[in-house]
Amino acid sequence: MIYARIAGIGSYLPEKVVTNHDLEKSIDTSDEWIRERTGIKRRHIAGDDETTASMGVVAAQRAMEMAGVGPDDIDLIVLGTATPDKVFPATACIIQRRLEVSGGPAFDVHAVCSGFLYALDIANRYIRTGGARTAIVIGSETLSRITNWEDRGTAVLFGDGAGAVVLQVAEEPGILATHIHADGRYEELLHVEQGISVGYDVTRAGGAYIQMEGNAVFRRAVATFDKIARETVADLDGHLDDIDWFVPHQANMRIIRAAAKRLQMPMERVIATVDEHANTSGASIPLALDLAVRDGRIERGQNLLFAAFGAGFTWGSAMVKF
Ligand code: ACO
Repeated sequence: MIYARIAGIGSYLPEKVVTNHDLEKSIDTSDEWIRERTGIKRRHIAGDDETTASMGVVAAQRAMEMAGVGPDDIDLIVLGTATPDKVFPATACIIQRRLEVSGGPAFDVHAVCSGFLYALDIANRYIRTGGARTAIVIGSETLSRITNWEDRGTAVLFGDGAGAVVLQVAEEPGILATHIHADGRYEELLHVEQGISVGYDVTRAGGAYIQMEGNAVFRRAVATFDKIARETVADLDGHLDDIDWFVPHQANMRIIRAAAKRLQMPMERVIATVDEHANTSGASIPLALDLAVRDGRIERGQNLLFAAFGAGFTWGSAMVKF
């Protein structure tokens, strides 16, 4: 059998940090409210010269370094992003060029907060069916560019950053199971109104920003996290006890706590970075993973459960032997 395993991980966070206290100066909010409702203390925001591609490149280079692979080894790049550098070409192609990788496919996957898990699912299938031997899977986002900094309902939630893994062909698993889903009926609960074929006019007031019905999204996120985690574990005939670490999408500390509680997962086994990173959408899982691997909490041989939920709605999970 052919499997895929995570051979390296890397991430990148912009240098600029915006704290809750900074936001207090421009919108009617408070550090206390934001911490209590979301767990967020600060977020990293891309500088003028930083983009989804530039951050994705650094995260990918760090993952390649850990995996001990070079540009010639890479035969697939899949990027999960909702904030591409350009309408086209795909940001994955821009990253491919800067990494000096050539030949293999490079494309973007648009599943918002579930983007990294969609990308991981696809790259895993490529490797398992012999279509690639070494793939880079990236989640990179510059949500700050589509955040309405005057809307306190959304401005406090998001941040920028990138994370990446190198997936390599292996004789032992690796990626144990992945599941991804979507339900387009919830489009209006969390969306950016403008797109290329609809109202493409960045000067139109309000249209180009993230709009969200926070309460409804919250309820749906909690219920879905629980469902997908159980689906993945059941698929492996396993038990929740088999999971060493739960690495969820970092949307909100209350969502993470609620999901962990339903999974009967003590918070000591949950990787949470939302306090420092806020919600970086498709980048949040690989960012959290990289942090916990590099600080020594996650070790080789351990079982990891990833789960994400985002606009679409889209959701997904992956069980990984690291
Ligand atoms: N500061 C102070 N007050 C605020 C703020 C703010 N930043 N934002 C909203 N409020 C006020 C509201 O106006 C409201 O006031 P009112 O009672 O006078 O009308 C009050 O706080 C309560 O508002 P709610 O929206 O009911 O607050 P809630 O407890 O639901 O928290 C939040 C809002 C944090 C947005 C929450 O619903 C949430 O996290 N939802 C999930 C959304 C999410 O994470 N989306 C990201 C993408 S999807 C994903 O990644 C899962």
